[in-house]
Amino acid sequence: MKDDLPSLDEIRNVMQDIAKENGILEQVDENWDHSTCVWKFADKIAKLAIKNGHEVDLNFLKVACYVHDIGRMKTGSKSLKELEPVRYHGLRGYEIVKKQGWLEKLARVCVRHMGGAGQTKDVNKEIGLGNKDTLAETIEERILAYADCRAFFDEKLGRAKIEPFEKAYNKFKIYPGAGGLLKKNQEFIKKITANKIS
Ligand SMILES: [Fe+2]
Repeated sequence: MKDDLPSLDEIRNVMQDIAKENGILEQVDENWDHSTCVWKFADKIAKLAIKNGHEVDLNFLKVACYVHDIGRMKTGSKSLKELEPVRYHGLRGYEIVKKQGWLEKLARVCVRHMGGAGQTKDVNKEIGLGNKDTLAETIEERILAYADCRAFFDEKLGRAKIEPFEKAYNKFKIYPGAGGLLKKNQEFIKKITANKIS
């Protein structure tokens, strides 16, 4: 295992190679734009948390934001082309990161960002992803998962933007327990940012 973090160029190159192999090269730009939106919001949350005395690894968080959806280079996405059910993109991301020899903590963010808070074993069981909880646990995982669930592609703008919490909540509440988990993570974000982000 390489004990340092990959550079953003390295991540993008790996994404390009995999997406090209699967005939979905257009995923790279869409994903990069999404990840940039997630990172900007995550950075804002993290800086407020640091100001309030919390320890956040900003360097790791940035790299994690650009890696978290790398599995989409295999599954594709609903908005472009879906090669495999998109619910598997977290797991595929985990596998890609491990194959690259990147850090376990980077592989973890792929499976633990789903649904804005990670997933319980009940949800994982229901959608064919095993029998274990894959919840966002560390402060970086929780900030990333939360920032990610608030980022939506805006057709008019032609890029991703941060939408209100309710939009994310309505998207994920259909999964058993997911709405409650997401609200709990929102409370956590409110707490660490002293209510500057909700
Ligand atoms: Fe994702």
